Amino acid sequence: MVAAVRVHKTGGPEALTYEDVVVPAPGPGQIRVKQHACGVNFIDIYFRMGLYPAPGGLPFIVGNEAAGEVVELGPGVGEFKVGDRVACVSGPGCYTSERVVAADRAVKLPANISYEQAAAMMLKGMTVAYLLRRTFKVEKGMNVLIHAAAGGVGLIFCQWANHLGANVIGTVGSKDKAELAKANGCHHTILYRDEDFVARVKEMTGGNLCEVVYDSVGKATFPGSLDCIRPLGMFVSFGASSGPIEAFNINLLQFKGSLFATRPTLNTYAAKREDLLAIASDLFAVVGSGAVKVPINQKYPLRDAAKAHRDLEARATTGTSILIP
Ligand SMILES: NC(=O)c1ccc[n+]([C@@H]2O[C@H](COP(=O)([O-])OP(=O)(O)OC[C@H]3O[C@@H](n4cnc5c(N)ncnc54)[C@H](OP(=O)(O)O)[C@@H]3O)[C@@H](O)[C@H]2O)c1
Repeated sequence: MVAAVRVHKTGGPEALTYEDVVVPAPGPGQIRVKQHACGVNFIDIYFRMGLYPAPGGLPFIVGNEAAGEVVELGPGVGEFKVGDRVACVSGPGCYTSERVVAADRAVKLPANISYEQAAAMMLKGMTVAYLLRRTFKVEKGMNVLIHAAAGGVGLIFCQWANHLGANVIGTVGSKDKAELAKANGCHHTILYRDEDFVARVKEMTGGNLCEVVYDSVGKATFPGSLDCIRPLGMFVSFGASSGPIEAFNINLLQFKGSLFATRPTLNTYAAKREDLLAIASDLFAVVGSGAVKVPINQKYPLRDAAKAHRDLEARATTGTSILIP
């Protein structure tokens, strides 16, 4: 038996139950991993609430990223050996001290990346990697707007977009978060709970607006985000921290300037193993060079997963949060 955090009935943070579970032996193509750190992500909340149904039904172990060492190989696994240091972005199923996972979803960790760093950055950092390099190719001099710039994805995004030479504009929920975003590469911050973020983006860009807007807040920032994009620009809706965007008439994109809109997920971009490895390698390169640092600003014991969720939902966290089994 190993310790895990499960949901038996979807709901609030109280739905997270810390208990012992049995971990099966790895089947064909699977590995068993002793996990040293688990990442906390907003997507964990969508699963806990039932907004995203868990593929295997109830009960399910929460969590979508973790890092640890391989302790057992299933039949037919050739790419890994016992003792390898790995990270997995695959879930739900990560809030546990040991798990069995498909080997083709695991990535070997370079020696300079710790377990805690890996658990904190794989899902969020690979998301930033595909958003900035694949969904829309951000280039030097472009105006880029990112909402929730001081969050887990946000702080990695600001550093990486700055490193690419973009003019980075970020919205944040407080003055402290504005300072933090600035210290992590965000050139201009907007307090979107107090200020009209559309008017501020117009002012900051001299009316030129942004080539691309990355919006993970959803309901609260739509359709304002579209008014921050220049004609033929791109709207990237990649999350719904404030609730999902309601259905809208596609002609809205015509009236806002022949805009492009997409709703991408890391799962799709990293579905093929070669893409998973390439995106992870891009992330390891920017972290390895020091261009991007991964701020772990909250650390909790695994048994306190409910507190981690409460803090994330209350907008009380910055950067990334991890759980230690
Ligand atoms: N599509 C993908 O591939 C993908 C992958 C990873 C993450 N995501 C999305 O990216 C977003 C960020 O994820 P994260 O784990 O790094 O979380 P996070 O950004 O650290 O936390 C969410 C932040 O959203 C802001 N927010 C605005 N309105 C909110 C509300 N009503 N309730 C709670 N928060 C609100 C808060 O920042 P302020 O106080 O500054 O407003 C809060 O800190 C999430 O929406 C997640 O689903 C998408």
